Amino acid sequence: MLTLVLSACSQDAEMASEEPAAAPAAAEPAAYVFDRPPVAPSPPQSDLVGRGRYLVETIGACGNCHSGRDDDGNFIPGLELAGNFVIDEPAFTAYAPNITPDPETGIGNWTDEELDRAIREGIDRDGRVMIPPMAFPYFRDISSNDMAAIIAYLRSVPAVSRQVPDSVAKMPEVLPPTWGPPVTEPVPDIPRTDRIEYGRYLTHTLGHCTQCHTPLTPTGEDFSRIGAGMNIYPRPFGANVEEWSAIAANITQHEVLGIGTWTDDEIKRAIVQGISRDGRVMLPFMAFDFYNGISDEDLELIVEYVKTFPPSEATPPAAEEE
Ligand code: HEC
Ligand code: HEC
Repeated sequence: MLTLVLSACSQDAEMASEEPAAAPAAAEPAAYVFDRPPVAPSPPQSDLVGRGRYLVETIGACGNCHSGRDDDGNFIPGLELAGNFVIDEPAFTAYAPNITPDPETGIGNWTDEELDRAIREGIDRDGRVMIPPMAFPYFRDISSNDMAAIIAYLRSVPAVSRQVPDSVAKMPEVLPPTWGPPVTEPVPDIPRTDRIEYGRYLTHTLGHCTQCHTPLTPTGEDFSRIGAGMNIYPRPFGANVEEWSAIAANITQHEVLGIGTWTDDEIKRAIVQGISRDGRVMLPFMAFDFYNGISDEDLELIVEYVKTFPPSEATPPAAEEE
């Protein structure tokens, strides 16, 4: 999957409408190569495990971090959700744990309440506040019914015995002391008929698209520029992958820097196929492999919601400005 042409700045490529700069000599495949089997289409809410599978394996993209990968960044069959994607940042080294139902090395002995609290509030079983980059502030608004579905699905997948190292906070002083107050009330479902609110639920809460695509400042995401992107993800996968960085694109309605002039079909193709407007195969870390399974109906709502982001801009590296 990752032996594709890896260059960085989508925006330069966009604006210059030519081949991305500094592309290594490797042959560019005609399209993104998906190495995950397709997911069944969105089932009804009443099918708890099916609904959970849909959420975890498509829009939630939990396996983008939690599934095992080889040094080339490819998923290793049999290690779905068994850990351990590593993200090494100056402030922390994160190992995405084994979230299969194995009692020793996974979540087999966790209660539903413990899982709910971990996913929403970022609090580990032993009460420790977990470290980034899992999208706790986004996942905290997952509806109680959808959370029950996610947990039911996690309990249904094959248990894999795989010990993952503990994540390490190297600079605890710069990490959030908490991910917010406890969630004590049930979280209601968002009605699908409210297209923008449900689109926000898909895009922001479940898909945490806005986590990558909103400028990160020292005090957190700057939501006054939601969608302006420019956060840098240096070589997220694998020891054998060439040195590269993916820069989250500006997905606001800005006509030059953003996607203000893209058609709905172009936006959809970028999300589910990883192909940019000019036909360029986009860099991974955005979870195309998972988004590929998003239902047409949900994709429509995601596009509608993304198109509400007012034009704004950011400069890479977003984390260093302000
Ligand atoms: C961007 C990467 C990333 C994504 C996406 C992600 N996680 Fe995580 N997750 C992590 C990391 C890293 C940790 C461990 C953090 C720590 O221990 O401080 C974690 C911890 C957990 C834990 C606690 C397990 C344990 O043994 O400590 C659960 C449960 C969990 N994630 C479930 C999920 C689910 C469900 C989803 C999708 C809805 C998801 N995660 C998406 C990176 C991710
Ligand atoms: C893990 C971080 C991450 C997440 C989560 C993510 N993206 Fe992206 N996205 C990126 C990066 C990085 C790029 C640029 C890739 C490239 O140009 O090669 C990108 C590119 C795009 C583009 C193409 C825009 C352009 O100008 O090329 C669109 C549209 C987009 N993302 C929408 C979404 C939506 C919608 C979601 C949620 C369903 C999402 N993204 C989730 C990181 C992310």
